[in-house]
Amino acid sequence: MAKADASAQSAVAMPDSYSSDTARAILEQGGNAVDAAIAAQFVLAVTLPEAGNIGGGGFMLIQKDGKGDFIDYRETAPSAAHRDMYLDKKGDVITNKSVYGIHASGVPGSVAGMWLAHQKHGSLKWNTLLTPAVKLAENGFIVHPKLASSIERYITRMAKKEVNINFAEHFALAKANTVFKQPELAATLKRIREQGKAGFYEGKTAKIIADFMDEHGGIITQADLKAYQAKSRTPIKADWNGYEVLTSPPPSSGGIAILQWLKMYELIKPSDKLANNSVSYIHLLAEIGKRVFADRAEYLGDPDFYEVPKTELLAMEYLKERSSTITPDKISNTEDIKPGLYESEQTTHFSIVDKWGNAVANTTTINLGFGSGVVVTGAGFLLNDEMDDFSAKPGVMNVFGAIGGKANEIHPHKRMLSSMTPTILLKDNKVKMVTGSPGGTTIISSVYESILNAVEFNMSAEKTVNSPRFHHQLWPKNVIRYHPGLDKQVINALEKMGYSLDERRFGDMHVIINNNGKLDAASEASGRGKAVVF
Ligand code: DON
Repeated sequence: MAKADASAQSAVAMPDSYSSDTARAILEQGGNAVDAAIAAQFVLAVTLPEAGNIGGGGFMLIQKDGKGDFIDYRETAPSAAHRDMYLDKKGDVITNKSVYGIHASGVPGSVAGMWLAHQKHGSLKWNTLLTPAVKLAENGFIVHPKLASSIERYITRMAKKEVNINFAEHFALAKANTVFKQPELAATLKRIREQGKAGFYEGKTAKIIADFMDEHGGIITQADLKAYQAKSRTPIKADWNGYEVLTSPPPSSGGIAILQWLKMYELIKPSDKLANNSVSYIHLLAEIGKRVFADRAEYLGDPDFYEVPKTELLAMEYLKERSSTITPDKISNTEDIKPGLYESEQTTHFSIVDKWGNAVANTTTINLGFGSGVVVTGAGFLLNDEMDDFSAKPGVMNVFGAIGGKANEIHPHKRMLSSMTPTILLKDNKVKMVTGSPGGTTIISSVYESILNAVEFNMSAEKTVNSPRFHHQLWPKNVIRYHPGLDKQVINALEKMGYSLDERRFGDMHVIINNNGKLDAASEASGRGKAVVF
Protein backbone atom coordinates (compact mmCIF):
# COMPACT_ATOMS: atom_id res chain seq x y z
CA MET A 1 0.00 0.00 0.00
CA ALA A 2 1.18 3.52 -0.78
CA LYS A 3 2.59 5.42 2.20
CA ALA A 4 0.13 7.82 3.77
CA ASP A 5 1.06 11.46 3.91
CA ALA A 6 0.97 12.40 7.63
CA SER A 7 -1.25 15.36 6.85
CA ALA A 8 -3.51 13.46 4.44
CA GLN A 9 -7.19 13.68 5.17
CA SER A 10 -9.83 10.97 5.25
CA ALA A 11 -13.55 11.44 4.74
CA VAL A 12 -16.77 9.51 5.09
CA ALA A 13 -20.24 10.47 3.85
CA MET A 14 -22.68 7.99 5.31
CA PRO A 15 -26.45 7.49 5.55
CA ASP A 16 -26.63 7.59 9.37
CA SER A 17 -24.56 8.55 12.39
CA TYR A 18 -23.84 4.95 13.48
CA SER A 19 -22.32 3.97 10.14
CA SER A 20 -20.47 7.30 10.02
CA ASP A 21 -18.95 6.89 13.50
CA THR A 22 -18.02 3.26 12.78
CA ALA A 23 -16.38 4.00 9.41
CA ARG A 24 -14.40 6.82 11.01
CA ALA A 25 -13.30 4.64 13.95
CA ILE A 26 -12.09 1.88 11.60
CA LEU A 27 -10.08 4.39 9.54
CA GLU A 28 -8.61 5.90 12.71
CA GLN A 29 -7.46 2.51 13.92
CA GLY A 30 -5.50 2.06 10.68
CA GLY A 31 -8.04 0.27 8.51
CA ASN A 32 -8.36 1.16 4.84
CA ALA A 33 -11.46 2.39 2.99
CA VAL A 34 -12.60 -1.17 2.22
CA ASP A 35 -12.32 -2.20 5.90
CA ALA A 36 -14.40 0.85 6.84
CA ALA A 37 -16.96 0.03 4.15
CA ILE A 38 -17.37 -3.58 5.33
CA ALA A 39 -17.86 -2.53 8.97
CA ALA A 40 -20.35 0.15 7.88
CA GLN A 41 -22.33 -2.27 5.70
CA PHE A 42 -22.89 -4.57 8.70
CA VAL A 43 -23.77 -1.64 11.00
CA LEU A 44 -26.35 -0.41 8.47
CA ALA A 45 -27.96 -3.88 8.56
CA VAL A 46 -28.72 -3.07 12.21
CA THR A 47 -29.41 0.68 12.31
CA LEU A 48 -30.88 1.36 8.86
CA PRO A 49 -33.17 -1.65 8.39
CA GLU A 50 -35.12 -0.05 5.51
CA ALA A 51 -32.09 -0.48 3.25
CA GLY A 52 -28.92 -1.49 5.08
CA ASN A 53 -28.93 -5.24 5.05
CA ILE A 54 -27.59 -8.75 5.12
CA GLY A 55 -30.77 -9.95 3.35
CA GLY A 56 -30.19 -8.01 0.12
CA GLY A 57 -27.34 -7.10 -2.18
CA GLY A 58 -25.44 -4.28 -3.83
CA PHE A 59 -22.32 -3.11 -5.57
CA MET A 60 -19.03 -1.91 -4.11
CA LEU A 61 -16.81 0.14 -6.41
CA ILE A 62 -13.21 0.39 -5.19
CA GLN A 63 -10.23 2.44 -6.29
CA LYS A 64 -7.31 1.10 -4.30
CA ASP A 65 -3.56 1.40 -4.77
CA GLY A 66 -4.26 3.01 -8.14
CA LYS A 67 -6.47 0.18 -9.42
CA GLY A 68 -10.21 -0.21 -9.80
CA ASP A 69 -12.32 -3.19 -8.67
CA PHE A 70 -16.06 -3.80 -8.63
CA ILE A 71 -17.54 -6.24 -6.14
CA ASP A 72 -20.91 -7.40 -7.51
CA TYR A 73 -22.99 -8.81 -4.66
CA ARG A 74 -26.33 -8.48 -6.43
CA GLU A 75 -28.98 -11.05 -5.48
CA THR A 76 -29.71 -13.96 -7.85
CA ALA A 77 -32.96 -15.70 -8.80
CA PRO A 78 -33.45 -18.97 -6.86
CA SER A 79 -33.10 -22.23 -8.83
CA ALA A 80 -36.87 -22.80 -8.83
CA ALA A 81 -37.50 -19.35 -10.38
CA HIS A 82 -38.77 -19.22 -13.97
CA ARG A 83 -39.60 -16.62 -16.58
CA ASP A 84 -43.35 -16.51 -15.97
CA MET A 85 -43.37 -16.93 -12.20
CA TYR A 86 -45.20 -13.63 -11.61
CA LEU A 87 -47.88 -14.17 -14.29
CA ASP A 88 -51.39 -15.58 -13.76
CA LYS A 89 -53.06 -18.17 -16.02
CA LYS A 90 -54.09 -15.47 -18.47
CA GLY A 91 -50.50 -14.25 -18.72
CA ASP A 92 -51.09 -11.03 -16.74
CA VAL A 93 -48.69 -9.85 -14.06
CA ILE A 94 -49.99 -10.70 -10.55
CA THR A 95 -50.00 -7.37 -8.70
CA ASN A 96 -47.42 -7.10 -5.93
CA LYS A 97 -46.25 -10.74 -6.02
CA SER A 98 -42.71 -9.67 -6.94
CA VAL A 99 -42.82 -6.73 -4.51
CA TYR A 100 -44.16 -7.89 -1.13
CA GLY A 101 -44.05 -11.15 0.78
CA ILE A 102 -42.22 -14.43 0.57
CA HIS A 103 -42.05 -14.71 -3.27
CA ALA A 104 -40.35 -11.35 -3.81
CA SER A 105 -36.81 -12.23 -2.68
CA GLY A 106 -33.69 -13.13 -4.58
CA VAL A 107 -30.88 -15.08 -2.91
CA PRO A 108 -29.09 -12.47 -0.74
CA GLY A 109 -25.56 -11.43 -1.74
CA SER A 110 -24.37 -8.94 0.89
CA VAL A 111 -22.44 -11.26 3.20
CA ALA A 112 -20.64 -12.95 0.28
CA GLY A 113 -19.86 -9.51 -1.14
CA MET A 114 -18.31 -8.26 2.08
CA TRP A 115 -16.37 -11.52 2.43
CA LEU A 116 -14.95 -11.23 -1.09
CA ALA A 117 -14.10 -7.53 -0.59
CA HIS A 118 -12.30 -8.46 2.63
CA GLN A 119 -10.37 -11.36 1.08
CA LYS A 120 -9.18 -9.16 -1.79
CA HIS A 121 -8.66 -5.80 -0.09
CA GLY A 122 -9.13 -5.97 3.69
CA SER A 123 -6.31 -5.21 6.11
CA LEU A 124 -7.95 -5.49 9.54
CA LYS A 125 -9.32 -8.76 10.92
CA TRP A 126 -12.85 -9.83 9.80
CA ASN A 127 -13.76 -10.22 13.46
CA THR A 128 -12.87 -6.56 14.16
CA LEU A 129 -15.10 -5.41 11.30
CA LEU A 130 -18.15 -7.34 12.52
CA THR A 131 -17.93 -6.34 16.17
CA PRO A 132 -19.51 -2.84 15.94
CA ALA A 133 -22.62 -4.31 14.27
CA VAL A 134 -22.85 -7.18 16.76
CA LYS A 135 -22.73 -4.68 19.66
CA LEU A 136 -25.40 -2.41 18.16
CA ALA A 137 -27.71 -5.38 17.54
CA GLU A 138 -27.10 -6.85 21.00
CA ASN A 139 -27.08 -3.70 23.15
CA GLY A 140 -29.43 -1.74 20.92
CA PHE A 141 -29.29 1.63 19.19
CA ILE A 142 -31.39 4.76 19.56
CA VAL A 143 -34.13 4.85 16.93
CA HIS A 144 -34.10 8.06 14.87
CA PRO A 145 -37.57 9.66 14.62
CA LYS A 146 -37.38 9.45 10.80
CA LEU A 147 -36.81 5.68 11.05
CA ALA A 148 -39.65 5.30 13.57
CA SER A 149 -42.09 7.08 11.27
CA SER A 150 -41.04 5.02 8.21
CA ILE A 151 -41.62 1.87 10.25
CA GLU A 152 -45.10 3.07 11.29
CA ARG A 153 -46.01 3.93 7.69
CA TYR A 154 -44.77 0.56 6.50
CA ILE A 155 -46.76 -1.33 9.17
CA THR A 156 -49.94 0.42 7.97
CA ARG A 157 -49.14 -0.29 4.33
CA MET A 158 -48.47 -3.97 5.01
CA ALA A 159 -51.74 -4.29 6.90
CA LYS A 160 -53.65 -2.66 4.01
CA LYS A 161 -52.09 -5.02 1.49
CA GLU A 162 -52.68 -8.01 3.79
CA VAL A 163 -49.14 -9.26 3.23
CA ASN A 164 -47.82 -9.01 6.74
CA ILE A 165 -46.00 -12.17 7.82
CA ASN A 166 -44.10 -10.73 10.78
CA PHE A 167 -42.92 -7.17 10.02
CA ALA A 168 -45.13 -5.39 12.58
CA GLU A 169 -44.30 -7.92 15.26
CA HIS A 170 -40.55 -7.67 14.68
CA PHE A 171 -40.39 -3.86 14.61
CA ALA A 172 -43.09 -3.13 17.22
CA LEU A 173 -40.52 -1.93 19.79
CA ALA A 174 -38.65 0.39 17.43
CA LYS A 175 -40.11 3.65 18.78
CA ALA A 176 -38.57 7.09 18.26
CA ASN A 177 -35.72 7.98 20.64
CA THR A 178 -35.82 4.64 22.45
CA VAL A 179 -33.24 1.84 22.47
CA PHE A 180 -34.08 -0.99 20.04
CA LYS A 181 -32.34 -4.35 20.55
CA GLN A 182 -32.29 -7.17 17.97
CA PRO A 183 -31.05 -10.35 19.70
CA GLU A 184 -31.80 -12.72 16.79
CA LEU A 185 -29.91 -10.48 14.39
CA ALA A 186 -27.05 -10.26 16.91
CA ALA A 187 -26.83 -14.06 16.97
CA THR A 188 -26.79 -14.21 13.14
CA LEU A 189 -24.07 -11.53 12.99
CA LYS A 190 -22.04 -13.49 15.56
CA ARG A 191 -22.23 -16.60 13.37
CA ILE A 192 -20.99 -14.48 10.44
CA ARG A 193 -18.27 -13.01 12.65
CA GLU A 194 -17.08 -16.45 13.74
CA GLN A 195 -17.55 -18.48 10.54
CA GLY A 196 -17.20 -15.84 7.82
CA LYS A 197 -19.30 -16.29 4.70
CA ALA A 198 -20.29 -19.83 5.81
CA GLY A 199 -21.94 -18.31 8.88
CA PHE A 200 -24.68 -17.08 6.56
CA TYR A 201 -24.75 -19.40 3.53
CA GLU A 202 -24.26 -22.70 5.37
CA GLY A 203 -25.01 -24.28 8.74
CA LYS A 204 -27.49 -22.81 11.17
CA THR A 205 -28.37 -19.54 9.38
CA ALA A 206 -28.92 -21.27 6.03
CA LYS A 207 -31.13 -23.86 7.70
CA ILE A 208 -33.19 -21.18 9.47
CA ILE A 209 -33.72 -19.36 6.14
CA ALA A 210 -34.64 -22.51 4.20
CA ASP A 211 -37.02 -23.78 6.93
CA PHE A 212 -38.67 -20.33 7.08
CA MET A 213 -39.11 -20.43 3.28
CA ASP A 214 -40.68 -23.92 3.48
CA GLU A 215 -43.05 -22.84 6.20
CA HIS A 216 -44.36 -19.86 4.22
CA GLY A 217 -44.31 -21.33 0.69
CA GLY A 218 -41.12 -19.56 -0.50
CA ILE A 219 -38.58 -21.11 -2.90
CA ILE A 220 -35.07 -20.23 -1.64
CA THR A 221 -33.31 -23.46 -0.57
CA GLN A 222 -30.13 -24.35 1.33
CA ALA A 223 -28.61 -25.35 -2.03
CA ASP A 224 -29.40 -21.88 -3.46
CA LEU A 225 -27.64 -20.26 -0.52
CA LYS A 226 -24.61 -22.52 -0.76
CA ALA A 227 -24.32 -21.84 -4.50
CA TYR A 228 -24.36 -18.04 -4.19
CA GLN A 229 -21.16 -16.36 -5.43
CA ALA A 230 -20.24 -12.69 -5.24
CA LYS A 231 -18.15 -11.66 -8.26
CA SER A 232 -15.28 -9.31 -8.85
CA ARG A 233 -15.84 -7.55 -12.20
CA THR A 234 -13.88 -5.00 -14.20
CA PRO A 235 -15.38 -1.56 -13.64
CA ILE A 236 -16.27 0.53 -16.68
CA LYS A 237 -13.66 3.25 -17.21
CA ALA A 238 -14.18 6.03 -19.73
CA ASP A 239 -12.75 9.45 -20.47
CA TRP A 240 -15.05 12.40 -20.03
CA ASN A 241 -14.28 16.08 -19.94
CA GLY A 242 -10.67 15.69 -18.80
CA TYR A 243 -11.55 13.08 -16.15
CA GLU A 244 -11.78 9.31 -16.07
CA VAL A 245 -15.14 8.05 -14.92
CA LEU A 246 -14.82 4.75 -13.03
CA THR A 247 -18.28 3.30 -12.74
CA SER A 248 -20.56 0.29 -12.44
CA PRO A 249 -20.68 -2.39 -15.18
CA PRO A 250 -23.67 -4.71 -15.81
CA PRO A 251 -25.67 -6.11 -14.03
CA SER A 252 -25.91 -2.41 -13.20
CA SER A 253 -27.48 -0.39 -15.98
CA GLY A 254 -26.23 2.76 -14.29
CA GLY A 255 -22.62 2.99 -15.47
CA ILE A 256 -23.52 2.75 -19.16
CA ALA A 257 -26.50 5.08 -18.58
CA ILE A 258 -24.54 7.88 -16.85
CA LEU A 259 -21.81 7.73 -19.49
CA GLN A 260 -24.34 7.90 -22.32
CA TRP A 261 -25.94 10.84 -20.50
CA LEU A 262 -22.71 12.73 -19.81
CA LYS A 263 -21.25 12.11 -23.28
CA MET A 264 -24.42 13.04 -25.18
CA TYR A 265 -24.60 16.22 -23.11
CA GLU A 266 -21.04 17.08 -24.15
CA LEU A 267 -22.05 16.52 -27.78
CA ILE A 268 -25.16 18.68 -27.83
CA LYS A 269 -24.62 21.38 -25.23
CA PRO A 270 -24.49 24.86 -26.75
CA SER A 271 -21.19 26.74 -26.74
CA ASP A 272 -22.65 29.31 -24.33
CA LYS A 273 -22.75 27.43 -21.06
CA LEU A 274 -26.31 26.64 -19.91
CA ALA A 275 -27.28 27.73 -16.40
CA ASN A 276 -27.75 24.94 -13.87
CA ASN A 277 -31.40 23.80 -13.63
CA SER A 278 -32.53 26.22 -16.36
CA VAL A 279 -35.32 25.25 -18.78
CA SER A 280 -32.90 24.43 -21.62
CA TYR A 281 -30.63 22.44 -19.33
CA ILE A 282 -33.48 20.31 -17.98
CA HIS A 283 -35.05 19.85 -21.41
CA LEU A 284 -31.81 18.69 -23.07
CA LEU A 285 -31.05 16.26 -20.28
CA ALA A 286 -34.65 14.94 -20.32
CA GLU A 287 -34.37 14.33 -24.08
CA ILE A 288 -31.14 12.42 -23.54
CA GLY A 289 -32.88 10.45 -20.76
CA LYS A 290 -35.52 9.21 -23.19
CA ARG A 291 -32.82 7.68 -25.38
CA VAL A 292 -30.84 6.29 -22.44
CA PHE A 293 -33.88 4.54 -20.98
CA ALA A 294 -35.01 3.12 -24.36
CA ASP A 295 -31.58 1.44 -24.63
CA ARG A 296 -31.69 0.33 -21.01
CA ALA A 297 -34.98 -1.50 -21.55
CA GLU A 298 -33.68 -3.39 -24.58
CA TYR A 299 -30.01 -4.14 -24.07
CA LEU A 300 -29.22 -4.27 -20.36
CA GLY A 301 -29.27 -7.40 -18.20
CA ASP A 302 -27.01 -9.80 -16.33
CA PRO A 303 -23.86 -10.13 -18.49
CA ASP A 304 -23.47 -13.78 -17.43
CA PHE A 305 -26.75 -14.55 -19.24
CA TYR A 306 -27.06 -11.90 -21.90
CA GLU A 307 -24.43 -10.29 -24.06
CA VAL A 308 -24.67 -6.58 -23.27
CA PRO A 309 -23.39 -4.50 -26.24
CA LYS A 310 -21.29 -2.28 -23.94
CA THR A 311 -18.86 -1.00 -26.57
CA GLU A 312 -21.57 -0.22 -29.11
CA LEU A 313 -23.71 1.64 -26.54
CA LEU A 314 -20.79 3.90 -25.62
CA ALA A 315 -19.32 4.41 -29.10
CA MET A 316 -18.99 8.09 -29.95
CA GLU A 317 -20.42 7.61 -33.47
CA TYR A 318 -23.48 5.92 -31.99
CA LEU A 319 -24.03 8.64 -29.40
CA LYS A 320 -23.62 11.32 -32.05
CA GLU A 321 -26.29 9.75 -34.18
CA ARG A 322 -28.51 9.05 -31.20
CA SER A 323 -28.41 12.66 -29.98
CA SER A 324 -28.74 14.20 -33.45
CA THR A 325 -32.55 14.14 -33.30
CA ILE A 326 -32.69 16.25 -30.13
CA THR A 327 -34.14 19.73 -30.67
CA PRO A 328 -33.37 22.43 -28.10
CA ASP A 329 -36.90 23.76 -27.75
CA LYS A 330 -39.27 20.95 -28.67
CA ILE A 331 -40.17 17.69 -26.93
CA SER A 332 -39.71 14.58 -29.07
CA ASN A 333 -42.51 12.06 -29.35
CA THR A 334 -42.01 9.36 -26.69
CA GLU A 335 -43.41 6.57 -28.92
CA ASP A 336 -40.82 7.36 -31.60
CA ILE A 337 -37.85 6.83 -29.28
CA LYS A 338 -36.81 3.22 -29.78
CA PRO A 339 -33.69 1.38 -28.69
CA GLY A 340 -30.95 2.63 -30.96
CA LEU A 341 -28.83 -0.36 -31.99
CA TYR A 342 -31.46 -2.01 -34.14
CA GLU A 343 -29.87 -2.45 -37.45
CA SER A 344 -27.23 -4.78 -36.60
CA GLU A 345 -37.80 3.74 -2.97
CA GLN A 346 -35.14 2.36 -0.50
CA THR A 347 -31.57 1.74 -1.04
CA THR A 348 -28.57 3.30 0.64
CA HIS A 349 -25.21 4.55 -0.51
CA PHE A 350 -21.99 5.60 1.19
CA SER A 351 -18.67 7.08 0.11
CA ILE A 352 -15.30 6.71 1.86
CA VAL A 353 -11.79 8.03 1.15
CA ASP A 354 -8.89 6.93 3.34
CA LYS A 355 -5.57 8.67 4.07
CA TRP A 356 -3.84 6.61 1.37
CA GLY A 357 -6.19 8.08 -1.26
CA ASN A 358 -8.14 4.82 -1.69
CA ALA A 359 -11.87 5.18 -2.20
CA VAL A 360 -15.00 3.10 -1.88
CA ALA A 361 -18.40 3.92 -3.34
CA ASN A 362 -20.93 1.38 -2.08
CA THR A 363 -24.62 1.17 -2.89
CA THR A 364 -26.67 -1.53 -1.20
CA THR A 365 -30.34 -2.42 -1.16
CA ILE A 366 -33.19 -4.72 -0.31
CA ASN A 367 -35.05 -2.83 -3.08
CA LEU A 368 -38.09 -0.99 -1.65
CA GLY A 369 -38.04 0.40 1.89
CA PHE A 370 -37.95 -2.63 4.21
CA GLY A 371 -37.75 -4.95 1.17
CA SER A 372 -40.34 -7.71 0.98
CA GLY A 373 -41.52 -6.79 4.50
CA VAL A 374 -40.59 -10.30 5.62
CA VAL A 375 -38.21 -10.87 8.52
CA VAL A 376 -36.56 -14.30 8.72
CA THR A 377 -37.87 -15.50 12.06
CA GLY A 378 -35.03 -16.84 14.16
CA ALA A 379 -32.37 -15.00 12.17
CA GLY A 380 -33.70 -11.48 12.65
CA PHE A 381 -33.14 -9.83 9.26
CA LEU A 382 -35.34 -8.50 6.46
CA LEU A 383 -35.43 -10.19 3.07
CA ASN A 384 -35.23 -8.22 -0.16
CA ASP A 385 -37.91 -7.81 -2.86
CA GLU A 386 -35.35 -7.59 -5.62
CA MET A 387 -37.18 -10.04 -7.94
CA ASP A 388 -39.26 -7.01 -9.03
CA ASP A 389 -36.17 -5.62 -10.78
CA PHE A 390 -36.48 -8.43 -13.36
CA SER A 391 -38.89 -7.84 -16.20
CA ALA A 392 -41.94 -9.93 -15.18
CA LYS A 393 -43.42 -9.54 -18.68
CA PRO A 394 -42.03 -7.69 -21.73
CA GLY A 395 -43.15 -4.05 -21.75
CA VAL A 396 -44.86 -4.15 -18.34
CA MET A 397 -43.47 -1.55 -15.93
CA ASN A 398 -41.99 -2.55 -12.58
CA VAL A 399 -42.43 -0.40 -9.44
CA PHE A 400 -39.93 2.12 -10.80
CA GLY A 401 -41.76 2.43 -14.14
CA ALA A 402 -38.87 0.58 -15.84
CA ILE A 403 -39.65 -1.80 -18.67
CA GLY A 404 -37.55 -4.60 -20.09
CA GLY A 405 -37.58 -7.68 -22.28
CA LYS A 406 -35.41 -10.67 -23.05
CA ALA A 407 -32.21 -9.18 -21.65
CA ASN A 408 -33.76 -8.95 -18.20
CA GLU A 409 -36.20 -11.88 -18.11
CA ILE A 410 -36.09 -14.26 -15.14
CA HIS A 411 -33.79 -17.32 -15.14
CA PRO A 412 -32.52 -19.42 -12.25
CA HIS A 413 -29.29 -17.99 -10.78
CA LYS A 414 -29.50 -14.86 -12.96
CA ARG A 415 -28.95 -11.38 -11.48
CA MET A 416 -31.77 -8.87 -11.97
CA LEU A 417 -30.87 -5.60 -13.71
CA SER A 418 -30.04 -2.74 -11.35
CA SER A 419 -29.81 1.04 -11.52
CA MET A 420 -27.37 1.26 -8.60
CA THR A 421 -24.41 3.28 -9.85
CA PRO A 422 -21.59 3.73 -7.35
CA THR A 423 -19.13 5.91 -9.24
CA ILE A 424 -15.64 7.38 -8.73
CA LEU A 425 -14.29 10.21 -10.82
CA LEU A 426 -10.52 10.12 -11.35
CA LYS A 427 -8.07 12.78 -12.50
CA ASP A 428 -4.68 11.37 -13.51
CA ASN A 429 -5.73 8.15 -11.77
CA LYS A 430 -6.25 9.96 -8.42
CA VAL A 431 -9.66 10.17 -6.78
CA LYS A 432 -11.46 13.42 -7.62
CA MET A 433 -14.99 12.54 -6.52
CA VAL A 434 -16.90 9.64 -4.94
CA THR A 435 -20.64 9.58 -5.55
CA GLY A 436 -23.82 7.51 -5.46
CA SER A 437 -27.40 7.43 -4.28
CA PRO A 438 -30.47 5.29 -3.70
CA GLY A 439 -33.71 5.87 -5.65
CA GLY A 440 -34.38 3.04 -8.16
CA THR A 441 -34.13 4.32 -11.73
CA THR A 442 -33.70 7.91 -10.45
CA ILE A 443 -30.27 6.85 -9.12
CA ILE A 444 -28.90 7.29 -12.62
CA SER A 445 -30.06 10.94 -12.73
CA SER A 446 -28.80 11.66 -9.22
CA VAL A 447 -25.35 10.34 -10.12
CA TYR A 448 -24.85 12.05 -13.48
CA GLU A 449 -26.29 15.32 -12.14
CA SER A 450 -23.98 15.19 -9.11
CA ILE A 451 -21.03 14.87 -11.52
CA LEU A 452 -22.24 17.83 -13.60
CA ASN A 453 -22.88 19.84 -10.41
CA ALA A 454 -19.37 19.25 -9.12
CA VAL A 455 -17.45 19.49 -12.40
CA GLU A 456 -19.46 21.60 -14.85
CA PHE A 457 -20.79 23.97 -12.17
CA ASN A 458 -17.94 23.79 -9.66
CA MET A 459 -20.26 23.27 -6.69
CA SER A 460 -19.10 22.34 -3.19
CA ALA A 461 -20.06 18.89 -1.87
CA GLU A 462 -22.82 20.49 0.23
CA LYS A 463 -24.31 22.24 -2.78
CA THR A 464 -23.80 19.23 -5.06
CA VAL A 465 -25.99 17.00 -2.87
CA ASN A 466 -28.63 19.58 -1.96
CA SER A 467 -29.21 21.41 -5.21
CA PRO A 468 -32.62 20.33 -6.65
CA ARG A 469 -32.44 17.42 -9.09
CA PHE A 470 -34.75 16.19 -11.84
CA HIS A 471 -35.36 12.90 -13.66
CA HIS A 472 -36.88 11.77 -16.94
CA GLN A 473 -36.92 8.14 -18.07
CA LEU A 474 -38.92 7.82 -21.31
CA TRP A 475 -42.03 6.47 -19.56
CA PRO A 476 -44.37 7.77 -18.17
CA LYS A 477 -44.64 9.99 -21.23
CA ASN A 478 -43.01 13.42 -20.89
CA VAL A 479 -43.10 13.37 -17.09
CA ILE A 480 -40.23 15.11 -15.33
CA ARG A 481 -39.93 14.31 -11.66
CA TYR A 482 -38.20 17.03 -9.66
CA HIS A 483 -37.12 18.08 -6.19
CA PRO A 484 -38.79 20.89 -4.27
CA GLY A 485 -36.75 24.06 -4.76
CA LEU A 486 -36.68 24.09 -8.55
CA ASP A 487 -37.41 27.59 -9.80
CA LYS A 488 -41.17 28.23 -10.36
CA GLN A 489 -40.54 30.05 -13.66
CA VAL A 490 -38.54 27.08 -14.94
CA ILE A 491 -41.40 24.76 -13.96
CA ASN A 492 -43.95 26.94 -15.79
CA ALA A 493 -41.81 27.14 -18.91
CA LEU A 494 -41.30 23.35 -18.99
CA GLU A 495 -45.07 22.84 -18.61
CA LYS A 496 -45.63 25.23 -21.50
CA MET A 497 -43.31 23.09 -23.63
CA GLY A 498 -45.56 20.09 -22.92
CA TYR A 499 -43.88 18.36 -19.99
CA SER A 500 -45.86 17.21 -16.92
CA LEU A 501 -43.98 18.12 -13.75
CA ASP A 502 -44.12 15.80 -10.75
CA GLU A 503 -42.70 17.24 -7.50
CA ARG A 504 -41.38 14.28 -5.55
CA ARG A 505 -38.01 14.14 -3.82
CA PHE A 506 -35.77 11.17 -4.71
CA GLY A 507 -32.36 9.89 -3.68
CA ASP A 508 -30.07 10.43 -0.72
CA MET A 509 -26.63 11.43 -1.95
CA HIS A 510 -23.36 10.98 -0.06
CA VAL A 511 -20.51 12.64 -1.90
CA ILE A 512 -16.81 13.31 -1.34
CA ILE A 513 -14.90 15.76 -3.54
CA ASN A 514 -11.12 16.06 -3.55
CA ASN A 515 -9.90 19.61 -4.19
CA ASN A 516 -6.17 19.09 -4.66
CA GLY A 517 -5.78 17.06 -1.47
CA LYS A 518 -8.37 18.96 0.54
CA LEU A 519 -11.42 16.78 1.00
CA ASP A 520 -14.96 18.12 1.00
CA ALA A 521 -17.76 15.72 2.03
CA ALA A 522 -21.53 16.04 2.35
CA SER A 523 -24.66 14.00 2.93
CA GLU A 524 -28.00 15.19 1.56
CA ALA A 525 -29.84 17.30 4.15
CA SER A 526 -33.23 15.58 3.70
CA GLY A 527 -31.89 12.23 4.99
CA ARG A 528 -30.29 11.25 8.28
CA GLY A 529 -26.75 11.08 6.95
CA LYS A 530 -23.51 12.30 8.48
CA ALA A 531 -20.40 13.33 6.57
CA VAL A 532 -17.04 14.16 8.17
CA VAL A 533 -13.56 15.06 7.00
CA PHE A 534 -10.74 14.33 9.46
O1 DON B 1 -31.15 -2.15 -7.96
C1 DON B 1 -31.99 -1.29 -8.20
O2 DON B 1 -31.95 -0.57 -9.18
C2 DON B 1 -33.13 -1.09 -7.21
N1 DON B 1 -33.42 -2.34 -6.56
C3 DON B 1 -32.76 -0.02 -6.24
C4 DON B 1 -33.88 0.28 -5.29
C5 DON B 1 -33.81 1.62 -4.68
O3 DON B 1 -32.90 2.38 -4.94
C6 DON B 1 -34.92 2.02 -3.82
N2 DON B 1 -34.60 3.26 -3.17
N3 DON B 1 -35.07 4.23 -2.93
